[in-house]
Amino acid sequence: MRTAAIKLLLFLLCLLPFLHLLWDAFNGNLGANPVEALTHRSGDWTLRMLLITLAVTPLRRTTGFSLLRHRRMLGLFSFFYATVHLTIYVWIDQVFLWDEIVADIIKRPYITVGFTALMILLPLAVTSTRGMQRRLGKRWKSLHKGAYIAAALACLHFLWLTRADTLEPYIYIAVSTVLMLLRLKREQILGFFRR
Ligand code: HEM
Repeated sequence: MRTAAIKLLLFLLCLLPFLHLLWDAFNGNLGANPVEALTHRSGDWTLRMLLITLAVTPLRRTTGFSLLRHRRMLGLFSFFYATVHLTIYVWIDQVFLWDEIVADIIKRPYITVGFTALMILLPLAVTSTRGMQRRLGKRWKSLHKGAYIAAALACLHFLWLTRADTLEPYIYIAVSTVLMLLRLKREQILGFFRR
């Protein structure tokens, strides 16, 4: 019962930024450039949800507090926000001009890495079920390490698209780096320095 209640609470919390975005969109609260606001807010939440998902294991290791049962949902929320982000770009920003979209993906490095990050998240979302986990066995774990690569590419995407103040992307880069280091086993880190 307690687990179900926590799951519901987490679900609602993860959905809140999306509902807030919808609310602001329908009430004209998106400022002078609504398309930019939609793209940025959905992009921010994709990255935040991805990092929250990656924080589950280090959080359990360092504090004993475990959200492991809910990690799948958190990861799927990251994919959900990525899909919203892409939909806004394809539909509202580029109005389905496929030639422009393909040219952007090929020619603009920040779009290329963002798109690659999304392409990495796609198989992770598809194989996130218990059945797939069982079927893929050890390969499932290796595949899902791709989430770290997606996070690194997403940070690069953010850094490369930021023209002026780069503090925010650097904060995300720092958080991702700490999460990756915490993920490595202590022995691996000590082994690296002993070499
Ligand atoms: C996992 C995948 C992705 C993540 C985590 C992500 C994250 C972000 C973030 C954090 C921002 C900046 C938000 C801000 O400035 O506050 C952003 C902006 C943006 N993203 Fe993504 N993104 C991803 C994939 C994509 C894809 C696939 C596309 C398009 C094909 C895309 C297109 C854009 C555009 C056009 C902007 C705004 C650029 C600007 O205003 O100059 N992103 N994204």
